[in-house]
Amino acid sequence: MSQSTPRITDVLDDAADSQTSGEQKLSWARQYMPILSTLSEQFERAQPLAGERIAMAMHVEAKTGILVELLRDGGAEVALTGCNPLSTHDDVSAALDAQDGITSYAIRGVGSEDYYDAIDAVLDHDPTITVDDGGDLIFRIHKDRRELLDDIRGGCEETTTGVKRLLLMAEDDELEYPVFAVNDTPMKRLFDNVHGTGEASLASMAMTTNISWAGRTVVVAGYGYCGKGVSRKAAGQNARVIVTEVDPRKALEAHMDGFEVKPMADAAAEGEVFITTTGNRDVLVRDHFEVMQDGAVLANAGHFDIEIDLEALEAYADSSRGARAGITAYELPDGRTINVLAEGRLVNLATPIALGHPIGVMDQSFGIQAVCVRELVEHGDRYSPGVHSVPDSLDRDVADIKLEAEGIAYDTLTEAQEDYLASWAHGT
Ligand SMILES: NC(=O)c1ccc[n+]([C@@H]2O[C@H](COP(=O)([O-])OP(=O)(O)OC[C@H]3O[C@@H](n4cnc5c(N)ncnc54)[C@H](O)[C@@H]3O)[C@@H](O)[C@H]2O)c1
Repeated sequence: MSQSTPRITDVLDDAADSQTSGEQKLSWARQYMPILSTLSEQFERAQPLAGERIAMAMHVEAKTGILVELLRDGGAEVALTGCNPLSTHDDVSAALDAQDGITSYAIRGVGSEDYYDAIDAVLDHDPTITVDDGGDLIFRIHKDRRELLDDIRGGCEETTTGVKRLLLMAEDDELEYPVFAVNDTPMKRLFDNVHGTGEASLASMAMTTNISWAGRTVVVAGYGYCGKGVSRKAAGQNARVIVTEVDPRKALEAHMDGFEVKPMADAAAEGEVFITTTGNRDVLVRDHFEVMQDGAVLANAGHFDIEIDLEALEAYADSSRGARAGITAYELPDGRTINVLAEGRLVNLATPIALGHPIGVMDQSFGIQAVCVRELVEHGDRYSPGVHSVPDSLDRDVADIKLEAEGIAYDTLTEAQEDYLASWAHGT
């Protein structure tokens, strides 16, 4: 294990107070996570993860903490760090680190070198399974820590950007163990990306800026799962929403969903608030900054902080200053100000008051993570190196647990219906 990389409890002045506050956050989240509670009972009883060492690089906040506890309760040793320097809640990290079987290196606000040192420290625990949000562990292992590959059964990837990069890696025959694309399951994508990102991004932005959505012109870049969620929720709060896209079908979908669609070059001058959700780079650049309105608010909900070209904005601006917690104001030569939230990082997680996705949404996403980890331990040999869809039966099982907890019953197919759906021979 790395001697020099600090654990969270090594760096906090008030470790005991932080632990108490972290435990409070964990216990609040726990009561609204029926899927993880149910799985926790099963895992504690059956110990499916006994002897496993799980490395995690995730947004370290309360909901993630409940997943970490569940994996530990299932018998694993868990070492974790953040997957974004600004999304860690130090108190939650400390409360986790204080528990048996859990080591946390996640510290909020670390620079790039310390961030990767923490990734290495997690990998020094010789994982048998990796759980990523953005792929940092997998990329590090394949580039610099290849000696670890022998012991690794497989991994799970939480987000779109991570899955897309892993697919490219697999296409090049560079991915050397099986990875479940947790992001792509209906239980994750249809709820977490759409509702979670939509609700949490707008909530974080409203709380950070104290501006209202009603009557505001909001430009949403990207109309994928996240962009759809953000657009719909903003419209639901009476904003005027303009969507920008590069895929003709998505642009058409946005249009037919009732949104204005136009190129960013045109939208830039009209928008009062901008939210990027593309998973791509350079979506807002100098040409756009030049025509934006005074006081424009810019935020990113995509995985990496590359959607807003902050280097170009810094170069263009005369000066910048902290305008409010979580907001940097860039003063432009002509007197206009452009306000950027959370340094262009995930706005739903990285502003000082951000709470991340709602608890119930993460209960679903992390339910899938938990059953995928169990699947890798119990049936990992069924999966070859590469990116794998999560077996549909696992996704359905997790949905069933949630519906039961919510007291929602639904219909089942009759035998005749099953037979009809399974056959091409029945005509009209
Ligand atoms: N904020 C969060 O907590 C959160 C949650 C889930 C996913 N994500 C991240 O959000 C990003 C988007 O995820 P998704 O599931 O919506 O992906 P997606 O692939 O469904 O959607 C991305 C959309 O952006 C469009 N796009 C690409 N480049 C563009 C450009 N230059 N201008 C306009 N549109 C462009 C694509 O055509 C696509 O429709 C990813 O980086 C993902 O990892 C963030």
